[in-house]
Formats: sequence, C-alpha cells, structure tokens
Amino acid sequence: MTSSEIQVDVEERFQKAMDLHREGELTDAESLYQAVLKDDPDHADSLQLLGVIAAQLGDLPLAVKRTELALSKYPDQPVTYNNLGNMLVELDRFEEAISAYENAIQLRPDYSQASLNLGHVLCQADNLLYAEHAYRKVTELEPQNADGWDSLGDTLHKLGRSEEALVAFSTAVEAAPERVKIRHRQGMVLRSLDRLDEAAEIYRECLVLSPEDPIAKHFLAVCGDQTEMPERVSKEYVREAFDEFAATFDEVLKDLEYSVPERLGALAQEFVQGSGKQTADIVDLGCGTGLCQPHLAEVASQLVGVDLSKEMLAKAQLRGGYDELVQAELTDYLSTCGQPFDVAIAADVFIYIGDLRSTFEAASMALRPNGGLIFSMEKMDESDRDQSPNGYRLGTSGRYQHDKTVFSQWLSESGFEIEQILEEHVRNEGKVPVTGYLVVATKRATK
Ligand SMILES: C[S@@+](CC[C@H](N)C(=O)[O-])C[C@H]1O[C@@H](n2cnc3c(N)ncnc32)[C@H](O)[C@@H]1O
Repeated sequence: MTSSEIQVDVEERFQKAMDLHREGELTDAESLYQAVLKDDPDHADSLQLLGVIAAQLGDLPLAVKRTELALSKYPDQPVTYNNLGNMLVELDRFEEAISAYENAIQLRPDYSQASLNLGHVLCQADNLLYAEHAYRKVTELEPQNADGWDSLGDTLHKLGRSEEALVAFSTAVEAAPERVKIRHRQGMVLRSLDRLDEAAEIYRECLVLSPEDPIAKHFLAVCGDQTEMPERVSKEYVREAFDEFAATFDEVLKDLEYSVPERLGALAQEFVQGSGKQTADIVDLGCGTGLCQPHLAEVASQLVGVDLSKEMLAKAQLRGGYDELVQAELTDYLSTCGQPFDVAIAADVFIYIGDLRSTFEAASMALRPNGGLIFSMEKMDESDRDQSPNGYRLGTSGRYQHDKTVFSQWLSESGFEIEQILEEHVRNEGKVPVTGYLVVATKRATK
C-alpha cells in the first residue's frame, strides 16, 4: 500500500472506531483505535480517546497513563486536560487534578466547564476562596449558567457569607427555575439565618413545582408552628435526603468533628464486658455508611445494620464487617425481628424521630432480658420546654431535640433502666457545637 492509501485506511478505521465508541461498543472501539495507532502511532484523537475508553471501562490508572501519553505528544489540547482532571478527581489526586484544569483554562480561557470542574475539586481540597474565584469566572463567562451560580452560592455559604450566597442562589433559580434542589439550598441558608417565613415561601414554591417533594414538605413543617410539628420525619424524607448525602457523608461528618460512633462504640464495649460476656449480638439502627462498625467489630458476635437509605447501605456494604444489612424503617424492623439482640446501637438517628415511645417499645421487644439500648440524642434547651410540652421539638436544622426528663420517663415505661446519661458535644452545626446526650439503658428482666 502507498502511504496515502494507508492514510485513507487509517481514517476509515478511525471513523469506524468512533462509531463503535458512540454506540457503546467499548472493547471493539478500543481494539480499532489501537489498530489505527499501529499504522499511525501519533494519531492524536486515537491516543486521547483510548484514555477516555479506559476511564469508561473503569480502569482509571490506565486512563490517566494513556491521557498523559496523548498530552506528551499534543500538549495544546484543553479538552484532554479537562478529561485528565476528571480522571484524577476520581482517583482523589486533587492537586494533580487542579493543575490539569488550570492547564485546560490556560489554553482556553473561556472554557467554562473546566472552570466549573476546577471549582468543584478546589472545594474537595478545602480551598474555598480559590473555588469562589473559579465559580465567579464561570458566571462571568456564562451569566445564565445555573450550575456556576448554584456552586458559588454553596461555597459562599460555607465561607459564612450567607447574604452573598442568597444572591447567587436567586440568580441560579432565575437561570433554572425548574430545579427544586437549588431552591432547597436557598431554603437551607434562610433557615440558618432564622428567616423562617422566607424559607417557608421557598418550600411552598418547591411544592408547586413538585407536589410530592419530601424535602420541601419536611422543611415547611420545620418552618411552621411547633404545635403542628410531625411526630417523626417521614420515611420519604429520610430516603431522599440520605440517598443524596451518601457520597459525601463520611467526609462532611469528619469536618463536623462527629464523634458519636467512637463514643457509643466505647460504651457498647463497656456494656458487654460489664455483662460478663466477651461478645454480643448487636443491631446498628440507622447504620448509615457504617461509621459505628469499626468501633463495634471487637465485641460483636453478630452485627446487623438497619437503614432506610439504599445508598447509605451500599456504602456500609463497601465498608464490610456487617453480617447482614437490612433496608427498613428501624421501628418496624425492631417490632418484627423477634428477640435476637443483646445490644441495640442508635448513633445520631433518634434525632429523626420526635415521639420515641413506640421505638423504645419496639427496642424492648427486640432485646433479650438485660440487653442494652445505647444511643445519642440532641439536647432540648430548658428554655424551649414551655413551648414543647411533648418533650421534643423540631429545630431549624430539621432534626429533633429531646427533653431528658421526658425521654427518661418513656424509657422507664418501656421497661428500661437508665444506666448512664452523659451530656456531651456530639458534633458541630456549621461551626457551632451541638450538645447532646449519650444514653445507656438496660432492658429490665421483667417490665
Ligand atoms: C446522621 S445518619 C447517622 C448514621 C450512622 N449511625 C452514623 O453514626 O454515622 C442517620 C442515618 O439514619 C437513617 N435513618 C433515619 N431515620 C431512620 C429510620 N426511622 N429508620 C431507619 N433508618 C433511619 C438515615 O438514612 C441515615 O443513614
């Protein structure tokens, strides 16, 4: 074949490879790109697309290697740098991802997607001021870019500049009025400023757009009169909120100095040893991503996790260490599981249930005599007692706070003896410490 015939053949094969790639035939497309490179080792698009295919096939280290090879031959490709940035983010190599996006932007200053991606990775690397700069660049380049304004709002809120955040969210809502998630964030900032009437208005708007929206329903109740507050958070709210939260939960909670899993784990160890056993059958109620698991592993002969959120359970499954993970409402689960447990743990989950009487009854049914119920709560201020005669109130955070005297009474009525109630800093809300209780109660052998 002459060199021009080879070139025609190369381009035909490349076009065929691209067709297969578009149709999702990844391994066939990969073979054809490689065939192209045999005849034309410097074929720029094949080099670059082989990196994309490796990423699509889930081999990120190979994707990075191939993309870096493509860039070593053709360093003036902003899209390839942007792709490289995305791959490096997936590998948690944030500093290298930042450089890759910066290279993309240097080559093409109006590349708004690269600026948006740069903002996201800077947030992950906790560099919020530089992230603000990146998001502002997006909004300058594309004043109608809702993602740019939305991310800017989020970053400004994290920086404590709530008024500016509200302006950014309002602009995002104007650009994409159908996106209720942006309005949820607007509502969250208004709640954090105690502007509950304005927040309620936002949630009403969400319900016009999406009448079954569980997040808006929940927070509309939060912004309303305490006397009309629900007895517990709806299952739909828990599922939606935590399915969304699962991907970032562990990281966010670390930043909030969340120590409850470790503390309850230590109390569970003490409880098991105090009952003269080496190990116990334990249920982790509202197990989430499984943060309690490492603190229970040593004393658990059997460990069952229960949670409403599928995505949180998927994270717990990845962590490992549970004998069983069950997707269920915890009170329903406790009422129907028989009496198989020595210990029930509930870390930061009873804050989603106001009236805990049926939950304590169900826990009593699920525990063997002398079994332990070990849990955390948020503390209700004395000053809120008069307005919350039921013994609990729904805070603007959307979580319940409980009155110690009232829940102690409920425990007693359900057949529990209180061993300890510790008052401690359980985590932060933004930068403000939240005070809560850590409780150990034993099921009496007879009610
Ligand atoms: C704040 S997270 C705490 C997770 C875990 N216990 C920890 O300490 O990291 C609350 C978890 O409880 C779950 N949850 C809330 N209410 C629930 C309920 N009534 N039944 C089952 N799971 C619930 C949520 O889905 C979420 O995973």
